[in-house]
Amino acid sequence: MNVYDSERIAEGLRPLGYRMTSSPEAADLIIVNTCAIREKAEQKVFSFLGRVSGLKRKKPGLIVAVGGCVAQQEGKKILKRAPHVNVVFGTHTIPRLPQMIERIESGGYRVVDIEMSDEIEAHETATIPQDNGKTASFVTIMQGCDNYCTYCVVPYVRGREMSRTPESIIREIREIVKSGVREVTLLGQNVNSYGKKEGLCSFPELLARINEIEGLWRVRFTTSHPKDLSEDLIYAFENLDKLCKHIHLPVQSGSNRILKRMNRKYTRELYLERVEKLRAVCPGIAITSDMIVGFPGETRADFEETLELMKIVEYDGLFAFKYSDRPNAPAGRFPDKIPEEEKKERLRILLDLQEHFTIKKNQAMIGSTERVLVDGFSKKQSSGIRNPKSEIRSQDIQWTGRTSTNKIINFVQGDACNKIFTGEMIHVRIDRAFSHSLRGKPIKIEPSGLKGESYAA
Ligand code: 5AD
Ligand code: SF4
Repeated sequence: MNVYDSERIAEGLRPLGYRMTSSPEAADLIIVNTCAIREKAEQKVFSFLGRVSGLKRKKPGLIVAVGGCVAQQEGKKILKRAPHVNVVFGTHTIPRLPQMIERIESGGYRVVDIEMSDEIEAHETATIPQDNGKTASFVTIMQGCDNYCTYCVVPYVRGREMSRTPESIIREIREIVKSGVREVTLLGQNVNSYGKKEGLCSFPELLARINEIEGLWRVRFTTSHPKDLSEDLIYAFENLDKLCKHIHLPVQSGSNRILKRMNRKYTRELYLERVEKLRAVCPGIAITSDMIVGFPGETRADFEETLELMKIVEYDGLFAFKYSDRPNAPAGRFPDKIPEEEKKERLRILLDLQEHFTIKKNQAMIGSTERVLVDGFSKKQSSGIRNPKSEIRSQDIQWTGRTSTNKIINFVQGDACNKIFTGEMIHVRIDRAFSHSLRGKPIKIEPSGLKGESYAA
């Protein structure tokens, strides 16, 4: 969500003449878009602001703005803690940022605008990012959250749940598809309750409408709350050819006692039932999850139940976190806090177990041929691919793309496909598996016009 917001922030400042720079040192304006989800993310904000203060000493005209969830939470306290900051803007005030910057440019005093609104106007009037050569893009379909999980800061910093209209979402997707985007990831804290409050269409209906957009090849979404995962949504994986075979379904804990204390409103049994249904309807669907270890009161036995659940589900990937107290979130006041050392130990055990499943799943793909949407060059160009004049030969360029199940596949061009471009759908035979990616050989570029996920090789 922050990546998406950052794009909107950058786009909104274009009319003022701002462009991206390659380093903070080269910038006239630095915007720190912050995350408050865990304590560590928040600490990073202040250590980065410390670095920025050094830059400002060298370049006094530098404008510094802080936005996002930490800005929303801390407001003008940020100005006290970081006196070099000129602007603090909140999660609902992004559209007003250009005016705030203009005010500072013309010598105005520091500004804090973190007002929250009951309207979703911010997104309705959002500037749509222009052609930036990307294949995949995020699109926010709703903001805020009404679920109040007891550990979570989101309802306090992103406000009440609000959905955009289908028309506005579809308009935005059509625009970005025109600029070359082939895959969209629809964003919301709980996409399953899309439109309910406003009486708009349901989320599966929205997906069906998006599935019809010409020129769009793939649709993903995140995040799904297990309590609201409907039958209709499960069947969308069978019925919609562009919907990717991957669902992120955060379970957080495998213990009913802890799920109750977290206010998650589902049981371990209900969760497992839904996973089973998903796999029955869509065999081979990749399932990933979020997990919190060391929630207040989590006993060793509760933690064992989490490990047991992981063994039953065998996730394709997992994001796991040590519980941390958040301002306003009720769990901060719960007794029986778990010592840091114990949380660390539980996290290590859990990640080790997951590593085993991730590798097992990736290894099972060796020898298979996967449809891969090419994202571009791999960030990690492996050493040894340069020729003696240190020029990269085109057949040695490392490319990267993703499967429908969201696995990262790296490959070099090869003889069978000697003209690969970003944004193409290609077929890759997998020959090696690692814990975070796979490698393979491209064997065929798909003809255009046949791009839904049900297209058979
Ligand atoms: N402590 C640790 N992890 C948290 N998450 C949210 N709040 C906290 C917290 N206070 C995790 C959850 C959520 C993910 C985005 O971050 O697992 O799904
Ligand atoms: Fe936070 Fe729970 Fe809402 Fe997710 S569903 S954003 S964890 S309150």
